[in-house]
Amino acid sequence: MKKIIALVLAVMMMALCFTGCGPKGATLKDVQKAGKLVVATSPDFPPFESLEGGKVVGIEVDIMELICKELGVELEIVQMDFDSVLVGIQAAKYDCAMSGITVDEKRQKNMLFTDPYYNAAQVIVVKEGSAIQGKADLTGKTVSVQTGTTAESGCGDAGIAVMAFNANADAKAALTTGKVDAWVVDNLTAMQMVEEGDGLVILDEKLTEEPYAFAFAFGSEDLVEKINEIQKKLIDNGTVAAIFENYGETYVKP
Ligand code: ARG
Repeated sequence: MKKIIALVLAVMMMALCFTGCGPKGATLKDVQKAGKLVVATSPDFPPFESLEGGKVVGIEVDIMELICKELGVELEIVQMDFDSVLVGIQAAKYDCAMSGITVDEKRQKNMLFTDPYYNAAQVIVVKEGSAIQGKADLTGKTVSVQTGTTAESGCGDAGIAVMAFNANADAKAALTTGKVDAWVVDNLTAMQMVEEGDGLVILDEKLTEEPYAFAFAFGSEDLVEKINEIQKKLIDNGTVAAIFENYGETYVKP
C-alpha cells in the first residue's frame, strides 16, 4: 500500500512539473504591471524590420507600437539573430517575437501565434542571366538561406542543398559573391534587398505561401487574445494597409 501511495505521489509530482515548472509566457496582467512589452526581433528583414541609424524600423514595428499603445504599455525591442528569436520566445525569455514569422504546424507545437495578419511567399533570387528559371532547376544546386527560417526547412525538405547564414544580408552576399546558385527568402524582403542593386533578379515562380503572425510563449493565451482583438481592429479600420503603403507595399488582408 505504501509503495502504491509513493508511486502515485511520484507520478503526481512529475505531472505537476510538466505543467507547472516550464517557462511560462507573460499574461496580459504581467505585461500591464511591467508597463512594457518586451519584443524580440531580427532587424535584417525589410520592410518588416530593419535598422536605420541604430533604430529598428519597419511595418511590424509600426503595428507593434500601435498594439502597445492600445495595451497601455511601452514597446521595448531586443535585437538578435532570427534563430535566437524563435528559441528565445519558446523559452519565454521575451514577451513577444516579431520577425516576419511564418505560422507553421511545427512551430505551433512550440509557441503561440496571433491570427495571421499577412500572407507572404518564399521566392528564388538569382544573378541576372542565371540559367535557373524556377524550382525545378534547383536540383543539384546550392541555395543560401537564413538559419532557422522556413526557407531553410522548406528547401531542406525538398532535397535542395542549403547553405545557412545567421544574418539575412550574408545569405544574400553568398549569392552575389557566387558561393551559391540561388538565394531563397521571403518575397517582400527579396524585393527590397534586390533593389539595393547587385545584379540580382527574383524569379516569378513562388515556392510557398506563408502567413505571418506575432509569436508568444505558451502561457500568454490571454495576451494573445487581447492582441488579436487589437490587430483585427487595426486591419479592419485600414491602419495596417496605411502602414504597408508607407513602406511602398500594397496590403492584402489574409
Ligand atoms: N518568414 C520566414 C520564417 O518565419 C523568415 C523570417 C525571417 N525574419 C527575419 N526577421 N529575419 O521562417
